[in-house]
Amino acid sequence: MWQYTPRVAVIRGLRTPFAKSGTHFAHLSALDLGKMVVAELIERTGVNAAEVQEVVFGNVIPSVKAPNIAREIVLGTGLPKKIPGYTVGKACASANQAITSGADMIFRGYADTVIAGGAESLSDVPILFSKNFSEALVSASKQKSAGGKLRTFSKLKIKDLAPEAPAIAESTTGLTMGESAEKMAKENHISREAQDRFALQSHTRAAAATASGRFQEEVMTVVVPPKFENVVEADNLIRADTTYDALSKLKPVFDRKYGTITAGNASPLTDGAAAVLLMSEDKAKAMGIKPIGFIRSYAFAATDPFDQLLQGPVFALPTALERAKLRLDEIGVIEMHEAFAAQVLSNIQWMGSRKIAQDKLGRSEPIGDINPELINRTGGSIALGHPFGATGARIVTTVCNELQHTGQQYGLVTVCAAGGIGVAMVLERE
Ligand SMILES: CC(C)(COP(=O)(O)OP(=O)(O)OC[C@H]1O[C@@H](n2cnc3c(N)ncnc32)[C@H](O)[C@@H]1OP(=O)(O)O)[C@@H](O)C(=O)NCCC(=O)NCCS
Repeated sequence: MWQYTPRVAVIRGLRTPFAKSGTHFAHLSALDLGKMVVAELIERTGVNAAEVQEVVFGNVIPSVKAPNIAREIVLGTGLPKKIPGYTVGKACASANQAITSGADMIFRGYADTVIAGGAESLSDVPILFSKNFSEALVSASKQKSAGGKLRTFSKLKIKDLAPEAPAIAESTTGLTMGESAEKMAKENHISREAQDRFALQSHTRAAAATASGRFQEEVMTVVVPPKFENVVEADNLIRADTTYDALSKLKPVFDRKYGTITAGNASPLTDGAAAVLLMSEDKAKAMGIKPIGFIRSYAFAATDPFDQLLQGPVFALPTALERAKLRLDEIGVIEMHEAFAAQVLSNIQWMGSRKIAQDKLGRSEPIGDINPELINRTGGSIALGHPFGATGARIVTTVCNELQHTGQQYGLVTVCAAGGIGVAMVLERE
């Protein structure tokens, strides 16, 4: 059997519970969440912190006070201070970038033990001042007299004082992610019913996985500081009681008149963090540790944001499969990030289409068919939530654990991201 060497092992992955933004973790930052998960990951794996040589973290909406969250995690979790730590941003694929960057360091022999993951707090986004107000602040700071300072501000209008939150929108197209997903639903004829049924599947499976205790191996308990009274043991966005009927009654959000995307079939705004411990296979063997998986290949790609923004995985997948020397039908565990049900169903449609293969991918044959029922066996981002910077590490962990539970040999991760970016990663069990 073909095998690349040296192999990069995923020793274990862990995440905080994912919480609807503004709820359990409303007063915590992405850094707080990142530190918690890394500290607990070290604890659970039993690895000596001194063995860790690098920390790579994804974060999409960075704090102005601590933009290199990875370095702050190093300093805040008792890891060796000589670890530089670096932060990566690739929108919703940021944790995938963190993991593949860490894996590449191991592959080159530059490190043998790396922690990689991501964190996001959508409860703690930087609130900006308007351009006019920012300019007035800078200009006032240059004035010597109090009168001069006051005169600078007197030119402002009331509306200039209104704070601005960062938009989840493409700067090239100006469309929000939701509007871009609406465009995909319309162009690919993804029905509202198909989206709602897919969302229901996500919730039903996530609820079943939670009830069975399946997530205990990958979800830590958070005792929320500073009061340490609230103990959060599970995700709080999963709706075990949701029904197709309830989902079908929700009003569309991004195109109120003709749209099909609702709060029920979109991933919600979420706070959380996730991380994996990576090691070279040799080091894991020497330490007597059994990894939960290995990274066999990966590929990032991008498509034109003016076309179908969230089809990036379709462009990344063929390369990842080629690099893994595998066909899609050899993969037994598939986890696709669910930004929107319409996006997942659109990705699957394009992967199975000969016309798309020929027109857009320069391939004569389609990538292959994926049965939507076979993906995301323990639920996906619609039900579990989607802390942008962390999701990639959640999914890599879940695929590895699913490989262990099902005995399947190969697993696939796909994540779409803003900018038309997509990533596909192939993992293997042994
Ligand atoms: C879609 C979105 C705007 C909804 O936000 P929201 O209005 O705060 O969502 P809520 O959780 O309050 O849900 C709205 C309503 O739908 C209901 N609802 C949501 N999911 C439901 C479900 N699965 N079953 C039944 N009802 C549901 C809620 O109970 C709520 O009802 P209420 O108004 O009677 O209280 C927000 O989640 C969003 O922006 N998501 C997309 C994020 C994004 O773009 N990510 C990038 C991906 S790449």
